[in-house]
Amino acid sequence: MAPEGSPSSLQAIRYTRGSLQLLDQRLLPFQTAYLDVPDVKAAWTQIRDMVVRGAPAIGCTGALAMAVELQTHKGAGTEFSSVKEATDYINSTLDYLVTSRPTAVNLADAANKLKAAAALAAAADAATPSSVCSAVMDAAEAYFVEDIASNKAMGATGAAALLAAAHARGRGVGGKLRVLTHCNTGSLATAGYGTALGVIRALHEQGTLEHAFCTETRPYNQGARLTAFELAHDQLPATLICDSAAAALMASGQVDAVVVGADRVVANGDTANKIGTKSLSISAAHFNIPFFIAAPTTTLDPHLPSGDHIVIEQRTHEEVTHFRGIRVAAEGVNVWNPSFDVAPCGLIEGIITERGMIPKTKDGVFQVSSRERGKG
Ligand code: MRU
Repeated sequence: MAPEGSPSSLQAIRYTRGSLQLLDQRLLPFQTAYLDVPDVKAAWTQIRDMVVRGAPAIGCTGALAMAVELQTHKGAGTEFSSVKEATDYINSTLDYLVTSRPTAVNLADAANKLKAAAALAAAADAATPSSVCSAVMDAAEAYFVEDIASNKAMGATGAAALLAAAHARGRGVGGKLRVLTHCNTGSLATAGYGTALGVIRALHEQGTLEHAFCTETRPYNQGARLTAFELAHDQLPATLICDSAAAALMASGQVDAVVVGADRVVANGDTANKIGTKSLSISAAHFNIPFFIAAPTTTLDPHLPSGDHIVIEQRTHEEVTHFRGIRVAAEGVNVWNPSFDVAPCGLIEGIITERGMIPKTKDGVFQVSSRERGKG
């Protein structure tokens, strides 16, 4: 199964019932190779090791790995002797999957939706282990398919929002925008099309993109390796910059708007995203450039009140001291390598979701509620 609209060479996740494969993003842009995901344990390791990355893609992978596990290792439910045994197994397996990476909330969101599907099926009069497993597999597959629809909707809303905000500041070139983005938020980070990169794609499709700029996104180079690959694949007018060049680029007058993705948007709108996002939000505010977040409702976490409650993943020293296995830093130096940071809500112009823009109060705080989370 490939969600409609996902070009095959940019397809991070390949799935048919009982079979899941991931594009090994560690090898891009040099090599296109898919790895099998035979079970949940393999999915856990592949998520942690960055075979697949990007918050929505991680959520989809977790959900589909659960489906594969049930189909191929539990006989689609026939291996369980009771409904309780099936639901206990599903709940504990999902809890385990969520521990693979801590910051992106999408995996927990997927796990909660699959648990809810299991609980609903288990409560039916004629419930069997097979009916419970079947409901979970259906929910996982729906989660995957819905992600791309959600990205397309965000593209349309986001393009309009960026144009309005930039034009209100007298920015743009002949009505077109020069847009800066960070990390990779495209087809490779989602079921297809992308979130922030989806907004850039939408601007291009409607003829209102003048130019896209992407940061290289040190230390893991998701921008240089993945976003540049997607932009070149789609033949968008694009330029790669070093992360440290972003403020200078803004100062030079070449950026009309910034749009980035998110790993977790909490109740007040504080947004965790790839390390460097905080700096971009501060620089954009300094130069009066509108700074947007594009995030599906699966990335919202209204249960945390503010960004200082978000667990920030720390990754290995080698990501900073080495480049493709070759040491580039002096021996003996200490390293601090948080994978994410938090853009404060006060510096965010708007948060784009597939259900529209999240409401913002006059004092710059967003009202992220369960309404946007798919419950209303
Ligand atoms: O460490 P990564 O590559 O998983 O980090 C990815 C990001 O920070 C993305 O901006 C975010 O997950 C949104 S992807 C649509």
